[in-house]
Amino acid sequence: MSREISGFSKLSKDEKIDWLDAKVLTKTSDFKEILRQYWNANSDLQSLHDDFIENTISNFYLPYAVAPNFVINNKKYVIPMVIEESSVVAAAAMVAKFWAKRGGFKTEVISTDKIGQVHFMYKSAKTELEAYFKKIKPQLFSTTSALTKNMKNRGGGILDIELRDKTQVLKDYYQLHVRFETKDSMGANFINSCLEQIANTFKKEGIKIVMSILSNYTPNCLVRAEVSCPVSDLYKEAPMYYAQKFVEAIKIAQVEPYRAVTHNKGIMNGVDAVVIATGNDFRAIEAGVHAYASRKGQYQSLSGAEIKDGIFKFWIELPLSVGTVGGLTALHPLAKISLALLQNPSAKELMEIMAAAGLAQNFAALRALTTKGIQHGHMKMHFTNILNQLKTTPSEKETLKQFFKDKTITHRDVKEALEKLRTLKS
Ligand code: MEV
Repeated sequence: MSREISGFSKLSKDEKIDWLDAKVLTKTSDFKEILRQYWNANSDLQSLHDDFIENTISNFYLPYAVAPNFVINNKKYVIPMVIEESSVVAAAAMVAKFWAKRGGFKTEVISTDKIGQVHFMYKSAKTELEAYFKKIKPQLFSTTSALTKNMKNRGGGILDIELRDKTQVLKDYYQLHVRFETKDSMGANFINSCLEQIANTFKKEGIKIVMSILSNYTPNCLVRAEVSCPVSDLYKEAPMYYAQKFVEAIKIAQVEPYRAVTHNKGIMNGVDAVVIATGNDFRAIEAGVHAYASRKGQYQSLSGAEIKDGIFKFWIELPLSVGTVGGLTALHPLAKISLALLQNPSAKELMEIMAAAGLAQNFAALRALTTKGIQHGHMKMHFTNILNQLKTTPSEKETLKQFFKDKTITHRDVKEALEKLRTLKS
């Protein structure tokens, strides 16, 4: 049996599935049926999704939820979230309500620059290269004018082109380091088209262009979100003790990379869920955020906290290059719905909303970790998944929910309780 094939992409969807069934799965009984269950009955909608990528054979669902009661800069939001992890939306909703009563989230976009680079090799004298760059620089702008016209009308475009000498780190390596403003679009296509044009104009004998591409590291496309309240208003019992533990938890994430990665993962639970719901590129966001967390030479917490004069302050700073126009935001009907739910924000506002969602998740995680522990809430939310996994009937579900109401939930205990219940009934 050969699992190799040429011309796979030319096959119809059914032919692809038949081939997989016969050659890869050796006729797994319900393969075709499960794939088909997830096809959309609306053929236009299905072909829209089929066309996003190549070789589509089905759709992969993730839950689409909303977290209400967010107050960000005194404006109320219902935040759409796409995520599979049980506790994330519940935590977001709970924290949103908590902070809404304490002035809400205060957010601010610090900067919106994006970067693209033309990477090239040059062996001759640096002075000659510098002289050439100086001479050609106006043309690097003018030859991209057709590409930048619309963006300029929206207030964006190429901000600056700089020649950078990187020969200290790699022999003969230089780059054109280009700063862009892309307003409400994420701008990947715009940036890459401009860079390729710049590279073409810049090309001459002796300059070997290696590649032209945007950077997903956007430390100057930065947003900050913050919450604060009197320490006495933070916890019902022993507020100063728990507030201090909270601050200590952040300090640990600032000095200990093993902890920082998990700490930031929790933040990204909130950020990514909004990134996906709004049709933005979560891989770009993830790559950029984690690079930013390492900017000081060691991977660190993205959030900070302090207690000063009886006031607890908790904040986050994140590089988030996102768009509210173009790309999937214009194509995916649910991405459009998400943006409508958010009252059609600008890219800047969307950065602020995502930062608030990230801070909310971090708050929920740290509050749980430094008080009752994380498993209490997690397992409560995961309980339904366990019940579904064990294929419980509705009445078994009800009985088990009652039984575990005030007990610690573990997969093993639920399984055992279910087995007992079934033995009693038989
Ligand atoms: C789980 O998805 C996220 C947490 O581990 C985050 C954290 O530990 O801060 C709870």
